[in-house]
Amino acid sequence: MNLFLTKHIAPSPHVDAGEPVEGSLEGEATLRRVLTARHLVLLGIGGVIGAGIFVLTGQAAANHAGPGIMLSFVMAGFACALAGLCYAEFAAMMPVSGSAYSYSYATLGEGVAWFIGWNLVLEYLFAASTVAVGWSGYMNSLLGSIGAWAGIPLALPDALSSAPLTVAQGRIVTTGAIINLPAILIVVAIAALCYRGIRQSATANAVIVSIKLTVILLFVVFSLKYVDPANWQPFIPAEEDGRFGFQGVARAAAIVFFAYIGFDAVSTAAQETKNPQRNMPIGILGSLAICTVVYIVVCAVLTGMVPYYELGTAKPVATALGFYPQLLWLKTVVEIGAVAGLTSVILVMIMAQARIFYAMAKDGLIPPAFGRVHPKYRTPGFGTIFVGVIATVLAGLLPIGVLGDLVSMGTLLAFATVCIGVLVLRYTRPDLPRAFRVPIAIVICPVGAAACLYLFAQTFADNWHWMSVWIVIGILIYLFYGSKRSVLQKAHAAR
Ligand code: ALA
Repeated sequence: MNLFLTKHIAPSPHVDAGEPVEGSLEGEATLRRVLTARHLVLLGIGGVIGAGIFVLTGQAAANHAGPGIMLSFVMAGFACALAGLCYAEFAAMMPVSGSAYSYSYATLGEGVAWFIGWNLVLEYLFAASTVAVGWSGYMNSLLGSIGAWAGIPLALPDALSSAPLTVAQGRIVTTGAIINLPAILIVVAIAALCYRGIRQSATANAVIVSIKLTVILLFVVFSLKYVDPANWQPFIPAEEDGRFGFQGVARAAAIVFFAYIGFDAVSTAAQETKNPQRNMPIGILGSLAICTVVYIVVCAVLTGMVPYYELGTAKPVATALGFYPQLLWLKTVVEIGAVAGLTSVILVMIMAQARIFYAMAKDGLIPPAFGRVHPKYRTPGFGTIFVGVIATVLAGLLPIGVLGDLVSMGTLLAFATVCIGVLVLRYTRPDLPRAFRVPIAIVICPVGAAACLYLFAQTFADNWHWMSVWIVIGILIYLFYGSKRSVLQKAHAAR
């Protein structure tokens, strides 16, 4: 077993047509190549804007950063922008579905590739479940609002709409609830859509994204005149009990980093994209730029409407609107936007996870069933069902807070590795044609990796034990399965 074996990358042909084309790593014609730059930007926005802004922002502002939450979004956005540039270079050069996993395989070796692939499961699969739990909360409250308006009780009781398990003082305990039914139903429905086809998924995503952007625009336009700049003072509240101050802003940046997760999922659609050399950088960087602007504007409005310490709820946008009776009608609109927003995040995450598994199975590191493509729908059928089932179980049983930090940590490790990988490949394979190049890579790549690792360190202290358990499970699977079945290791041994 050689952990440092790297996969050879062949220069990727330009692929514009709708016909299947050989992937440069797998050498096999499979997934359907139909996505355009517009689809990709919408997939990026679909995967990014969700629970981060609609759920996490309020508590991050109230408990850690105050109005400085805007600065936290700039910090997290900065790390993502650097990582985004590196993703763009890789995705245009290696248009395969494995994203950071495949990029690491080609640059840093099988050991790192497995480690990153395993961490991407934390990102995509766990994010789908986490966001489904947030979806359930918003959906139930929307049902309550509609029921109140129609005079019939529509909202589900807590026993059927919240997690039966939670973690208290490091131990798993029961809450008395039976099951989170809405969370289960949404994951099943979205997994079915992803199974049915990439075109159908992308179209549904485009509709959902239009709804969520419209709702955010309505919120900003109608709330703007209630912004009182006095609420932005002090911009960063003085440090107290380890909260606020610059350290608080940095901690909040690590929390709201979750809000940016998803633009990287665009790269998992590379094998289904027309002319990925041109469209991948547009999809990744375009969606990231739009979401960054949206986030900073929403945060400015939120913290300008009400004092930051009032925002520490699970529904900060609705909470802020609650202070203005004349804006109460917007609350229901925002609930619709949040439900839409969270729906597309679940969609993009399930889609991405199935494609990462597809790439790993092609390399022999996980069972071949994950690499099978549905003969008619041309999606990774088994992988999509598997991801749907696991995400359903997690979403039905666990509360939102348990998985959120782990999702961010897994993603940050992947981002840091991609930044390093770009630089490594510049030296090991300078010959490869690069349709998009990270400018001044010698600076951008190390700074990007350092920024991601800095954010990682902010959450590590609270979660290192969960992270360690996850990594140990990954190492065991690799030792007992992946290392023995690896296509690359076998080819190397046969030489
Ligand atoms: N960025 C995604 C969200 O905020 C994961 O829901």
